[in-house]
Amino acid sequence: MTKNFLFTKIGLVAAVVPILLYAYSEGPDQRHTGAPGELTCLECHTSGFPLNGGPGSLRIVLPGNATYTPGVKQTIKVQVTDATKSKFGFQLSARLAGDVRSGQAGDLNSIDALTQTLCDDGTPKSSDKCSRFPVQFIEHTSDGYRASTAGGYTYQFDWTPPATDVGNVTFYAAGVAGPPGGPIQTNANVYTTNITLTPAAVGPSGPTISSGGVVPVYSSSTTIQPGSWFSVYGTNLAASTAVWNGDFPTSLGGTSVSVNGKPAYLWFVSAGQINAQAPDDTATGSVPFTVTSGGVTASSTVTLAPAGPSFLLLADGKHATGIIITPNGSGSQGGGSYDLLGPASLGAGFRPAKKGEAVAIYAVGLGPTSPAVPSGQIFSGAARMVNAPVVTLGSAPVAVDFAGIVGAGLYQINFVVPQNAGSGEQSLQALTGGVSTQANITIPIE
Ligand code: HEC
Repeated sequence: MTKNFLFTKIGLVAAVVPILLYAYSEGPDQRHTGAPGELTCLECHTSGFPLNGGPGSLRIVLPGNATYTPGVKQTIKVQVTDATKSKFGFQLSARLAGDVRSGQAGDLNSIDALTQTLCDDGTPKSSDKCSRFPVQFIEHTSDGYRASTAGGYTYQFDWTPPATDVGNVTFYAAGVAGPPGGPIQTNANVYTTNITLTPAAVGPSGPTISSGGVVPVYSSSTTIQPGSWFSVYGTNLAASTAVWNGDFPTSLGGTSVSVNGKPAYLWFVSAGQINAQAPDDTATGSVPFTVTSGGVTASSTVTLAPAGPSFLLLADGKHATGIIITPNGSGSQGGGSYDLLGPASLGAGFRPAKKGEAVAIYAVGLGPTSPAVPSGQIFSGAARMVNAPVVTLGSAPVAVDFAGIVGAGLYQINFVVPQNAGSGEQSLQALTGGVSTQANITIPIE
């Protein structure tokens, strides 16, 4: 056993020597970049000039600013220039600024046969020794120095920064500018340089507005009516959730919204959704739309039109919101004056409407009223629509008794359920200004 062990050791040494020689003829030994505590190529290559005293230079060229984004690969160039020389080589290492001697920063990789990477024990990186000797050195190969051309040469390779922000990273590099002809140590000028990269500033993650994300409340239509309630869907729309105090604020929880340059009145803001009242405007068609949160503005457009109708929906998203008027005082709500219209499954107080009963349905964006009701303020009373909407229950139009604004941006439609209406879930639509409310919305009829 002992013999075998010794034999193995001897075999190992014998195997290592040719590798070292091979590495030597292919490129410089590791730890010659001029990093703190490190040698440079000047240890062996001399011309009479001191370090950086020759007529040339060495540059590390980055693809952008001297920054890195964690995990995002960059192609780095090393340019050795010397008008008096013909063959060029280099070595570069990437270190954590917090530990320049042994802190390997990221990963260096060749993208052609002109460079290679060594681990800190001098073996090629492909040997996987870099897991035990983590500092890496990328440098020219013999192909690289042969490819180099008179006056200067640029090597390039990839660097993948650490996956996380590790603070500043410094590249250290040394370059040799040698005479024409076969590999030789003498008559070569040696240059060094370094450059420090800072982690790229991560900008504040501002709001984004989803495509088609500005809609009348409860609707997926992208046309809204000035003065009407709308929703904005997106991300980072607000730092947190906030609800107004009924005071029509134009800034809520640090968020503000503008429609065609005018501030909207905010009722509810959250990261994913805003509900707001559009300001009054006579403009129609596509207008600028912005959401500002945390000082960052997202821009989009929205289409304005005289009407952008949408029923307010119950929690199931399928039923129009409404009430059944109970003149006999039997209602479960409002001191007996009404019941909630909707399937009983939605909770206490909900029931289907009977034929012959008067109902009131709530909506937004039904169009102009007389008098016009200004946005951004409380309204009580009733302002009739200039042109009443065409309301269809099932497949038949119903006689509308009243349609108009009864609160800020809030419309109400009153009609009596006809005796000939169908029973069960009946579809409900209101057509105004040539535009209809949402499809597939129903109210239950007994
Ligand atoms: C320990 C001594 C030693 C060090 C350190 C050293 N070299 Fe060399 N270098 C040599 C020798 C010897 C040769 C020529 C013979 C050979 O390749 O075996 C050579 C040849 C070269 C060549 C071949 C082209 C020419 O000009 O003839 C280049 C390029 C080169 N070295 C670059 C470098 C760079 C860059 C460094 C520093 C990062 C460096 N060397 C560090 C010993 C060294």
